[in-house]
Amino acid sequence: MRKQIVAGNWKMNNDYVDSELLVSKLLEQHIHSQTEVIIAPPFTSLLCSSNSLKGSQITVAAQNMHFAENGAYTGEISAGMLKSIGVETVILGHSERRAYFNETDAILAKKVDSALRNSMRIIFCFGEELTDRKSGNEQAIVGSQIKNALFHLPASEWEHVVLAYEPVWAIGTGETASPEQAQDMHAFIRKTVENKYSSELADEVSILYGGSVKPANAKEIFSKADVDGGLIGGAALDVAQFRSIINAF
Ligand code: 13P
Repeated sequence: MRKQIVAGNWKMNNDYVDSELLVSKLLEQHIHSQTEVIIAPPFTSLLCSSNSLKGSQITVAAQNMHFAENGAYTGEISAGMLKSIGVETVILGHSERRAYFNETDAILAKKVDSALRNSMRIIFCFGEELTDRKSGNEQAIVGSQIKNALFHLPASEWEHVVLAYEPVWAIGTGETASPEQAQDMHAFIRKTVENKYSSELADEVSILYGGSVKPANAKEIFSKADVDGGLIGGAALDVAQFRSIINAF
């Protein structure tokens, strides 16, 4: 059985004090126990958040990392550094990283390797732009993003990979992919993984949907056969909305 996961990507929001407050409110919520819950605060809040969440069902993830183990990369954070404060999961390939920080498939493949070398789990993001969808190229784009960054991995590494489909046109725009659009793409993604590896492996990979998921649409999106959870941006900053999305399963 593949895992159901709801992950909150805080992006560049919440300083140390705000993070402590949001985490303490999260801990007061009643959350369904069969859903894995992850939050991804900024680097400066990872340690305090993971300390506060110890013993709960919520864990933390980093939003990014560098591919090198250490060295002259001013301003960067390595997998080993994250591991040293107990962070076991990292989000890689977010469209904002690709768009604003020029992260290419080749760079992401190196980050994937570094995360796995350091025994971290990866939430790997990808998704097409609006122009790709309008021209009917969405599957080609998504297929190549997955292939270029992940298909060099041996099958044995895939238990550490979670996929997150985030159509760029739906991020922070209030426009969500319809549940059918999400299901169609998720089925395509699973088939793509199956064609490269095996149906057994593809069946075990959790595929999350991200892009304007809110309490009002979460239930319908999560009800789709190949949607195994969500990667939540804006609504993860509001504890009531986030709880209601988690409990939408
Ligand atoms: P929104 O939920 O704010 O659209 O953001 C989605 C996202 O980018 C999560 O990584």
